[in-house]
Amino acid sequence: MSEIFNPKKEMFNNPQFGSMEEYKALVADFDNDYEGTWAKFADEKIDWFTPYNKILDESNAPFYKWFSGGTMNVAHQCVDRHLDTKKNKAAIIFEGDNGDKEIITYRELAYRVNQTANMFKNKFDIKKGDRVVIYMPMIPEAAVTMLACAKIGAIHSIVFGGFSAEALKDRIIDASAKLVVTADGAFRKGKPYMLKPVVDTALETGCECVKNVCIVERNGEDINWVSGRDYSYNELIKSESSVCEAEPMESEDPLFLLYTSGSTGKPKGVQHSSAGYILWAQMTMEWVFDIKDNDTYWCTADVGWITGHTYIVYGPLAAGATTVMFEGVPTFPDAGRCWKMVEEYQINQFYTAPTAIRLLHKMGENEPAKYDLSSLRILGTVGEPIDPPAWKWYYEAVGNSNCSIVDTYWQTETGGHMISPLPACTPIKPACATFALPGIIAEVIEENGTPTTTGEKGFMCITKPWPSMIRTIWNDDERFVKSYFGDCKKDGKAVYFTGDGAMVSEDDYITITGRTDDVINVSGHRMGTAEVEAAIKKHDNVASVAVVGKPHEIKGEGIFAYIVLKSDEGIADELEEMKTINQLIKAEIGAIALCDAMAFVPDLPKTRSGKIMRRILRSIVKGEEIIQDTSTLEDPSIVGIIESIVKG
Ligand code: WTA
Repeated sequence: MSEIFNPKKEMFNNPQFGSMEEYKALVADFDNDYEGTWAKFADEKIDWFTPYNKILDESNAPFYKWFSGGTMNVAHQCVDRHLDTKKNKAAIIFEGDNGDKEIITYRELAYRVNQTANMFKNKFDIKKGDRVVIYMPMIPEAAVTMLACAKIGAIHSIVFGGFSAEALKDRIIDASAKLVVTADGAFRKGKPYMLKPVVDTALETGCECVKNVCIVERNGEDINWVSGRDYSYNELIKSESSVCEAEPMESEDPLFLLYTSGSTGKPKGVQHSSAGYILWAQMTMEWVFDIKDNDTYWCTADVGWITGHTYIVYGPLAAGATTVMFEGVPTFPDAGRCWKMVEEYQINQFYTAPTAIRLLHKMGENEPAKYDLSSLRILGTVGEPIDPPAWKWYYEAVGNSNCSIVDTYWQTETGGHMISPLPACTPIKPACATFALPGIIAEVIEENGTPTTTGEKGFMCITKPWPSMIRTIWNDDERFVKSYFGDCKKDGKAVYFTGDGAMVSEDDYITITGRTDDVINVSGHRMGTAEVEAAIKKHDNVASVAVVGKPHEIKGEGIFAYIVLKSDEGIADELEEMKTINQLIKAEIGAIALCDAMAFVPDLPKTRSGKIMRRILRSIVKGEEIIQDTSTLEDPSIVGIIESIVKG
């Protein structure tokens, strides 16, 4: 599908980008005066407490600093500054799994954020710079906790509720967190599920840094209370004052850490800044979602991922919008749940992942037609490449061929969107992220910086620093430089490499072709093969293992493991063995990393120096012809053996 869909302008009144000429004019402004144009937006958008004295400091590249010397506060930017004009506007509309509803106005949000901030200070002795781990379901208290941390300058680190005790423990220890905020649990598919027991297990060994656990009581199930350590959020909040001064934060003070997977080793604590991050969260919210004062916006992500950070909480609230938070899953009680909610709340912008679109398409192709979806103006997708059939169904069945689809390309590390169509402006090509947003210098290049030829794959790089970029990896500056500034250079200078490949078409459209490293994208969630392999290696009978991504109809990619056992005597039943290995993965990482399939093989294709040739393993699982040179392998015959096992 290379057809171009021209925007339906009549549905929009996009003040910023009425046409591609306006887009190009702003791109030209950035070309002519990069720093000055950024400064113009920073002055207009951010409510500074004290002005900054330098726009961009490149003296210690790649540790770039933006708006140095300025002070502000992200919770003030997202909540307090709106109180003069929007105090009774809905900030958060919450819908629970079982359909319970709560509407929190900006005034009410300010009230709760302040009480929570005071609780953190008074009861848990949380000070500026302390780390708070948040392990919570999708309930308003998660957003309140994030903002309360921001209000007092504590650094939050959210761990997605699907991660196991072991994964939670690693993240707590790496961040050296003083407080864990969690919930007894929540509801999913009509039933309660638990989170607090996972925290208990994580804290059993080796988390001495944690002094307290603060528990939101959501599902009312029985939990274990450790005296002197565990406190009820619902009880403590009652006695807290609703007045709390915002801590003045330097632009570069960290706002949060978010752990994400890389190609090697343990997850990395991506560190984001205060001013630069919130500036871009707000600008992209306004540009890409064309947020109007009366709009209701819904992003279905979980706050445990970057999409939830930037586009459920920080971006929408900084823009003074109404954001919907949903506790449940899109297929419960049936595959019409999302469309029912769109009708009920008259959602104007709906933002989700291709995996969800494929699932809803498969399970309820005709469901959208049963609801009035005419409020929708913009449909967004994020997290993985969207395939043309899913795009078409989204456009036609959900959007009634009337909405702009914004295929937003970005990453945990970029803080906000990098490449995306602009609604009512960019002529859209299905399944194509289109053009870099103004201010973002995105280039598809060879390692040495030469632009790739039209239609050829190259490295997706951002060649100039931008305000919302990752600042470092927590506690590991060296890994930061190596991971992102080690591979590509332009004009002799190291530039940010995303880890993705991309292609540029004749008419300059950018299409993302996927990761070039050992990161798998399962249902839009990043998973490092090294992490999954480390979990599998803990099995006593596993001699070696290699994990690769395998195309999956719904999830985009599934996880496939090639396993060499020490002894195959014990494995009369391969299915049983797979089950035990998957249990181990669930305990080490969580259910999101379960393998879809495994092959027990006599050996892996290794070079004489012992390096596993993963590319061969990827080709085998895709059923592709092996084009790689196998003559450098220690035992070239192994390739045919593995192929026949996989074809089985
Ligand atoms: C992939 C999610 C194609 C990409 C916001 C990236 C995409 C990784 C798109 C980041 C898209 C994200 N089209 N691929 N529109 N958006 N990706 O850190 O491989 O969880 O590097 O951030 O998702 O995943 P992360």
